[in-house]
Amino acid sequence: MLNDIREVLVSEQEIEDIVDRIAAEINEDYKGKNLLLVCILKGSVCFMSDLMKKITLPCAIDFMVAKSYYACTESKGEIKIYKDLDIDIQDYDVLLIEDIYDSGRTLNLLVNKLKERNPRSIECCSLLDKPDRRDPNITMQLKYVGKNVPDEFVVGYGLDYDEAYRNLPFVGVLKREVYDK
Ligand code: IMP
Ligand code: MG
Repeated sequence: MLNDIREVLVSEQEIEDIVDRIAAEINEDYKGKNLLLVCILKGSVCFMSDLMKKITLPCAIDFMVAKSYYACTESKGEIKIYKDLDIDIQDYDVLLIEDIYDSGRTLNLLVNKLKERNPRSIECCSLLDKPDRRDPNITMQLKYVGKNVPDEFVVGYGLDYDEAYRNLPFVGVLKREVYDK
């Protein structure tokens, strides 16, 4: 696995620092609220489990699997939910936990869909952000971002290429020859 990594982009230590910083902000911002952390599977599994352990407020957790589809003739995409929340979010301040904010399309469609269920509030937190790749039509800002990364394909700490590399403890850039073959 390690042979396929060109460069470590976010080390284990840096991930720990990011998690500590974001958890401290959440602990401050969500005082007196009814926090629900939603892990967007599968990529956010490591980030979610590390982050929730550093949150000192009472909170509920839930999981979702969703994918977006864009027909080439349309700019408005569709989102398909493969695994929905178990919890009714009406009484919750929802915080979606993502691995990476890329074009931004999936997360935007998901937030709009969940807003229809009238949560008290809904915000997003992403470990990584690739601002250079953002769809210019998407203006939604994340409340919490771990680190901005360049426009490279990254894997590890939950992020995959074809379901591999999720179990690397750091985030690294995948060598081009791995996915060009
Ligand atoms: P988008 O923001 O709708 O374009 O899609 C974001 C999703 O694409 C993320 O949740 C990831 O699952 C996946 N993704 C985007 N960039 C990368 C990457 O560099 N490595 C692994 N997965 C990625
Ligand atoms: Mg993925």
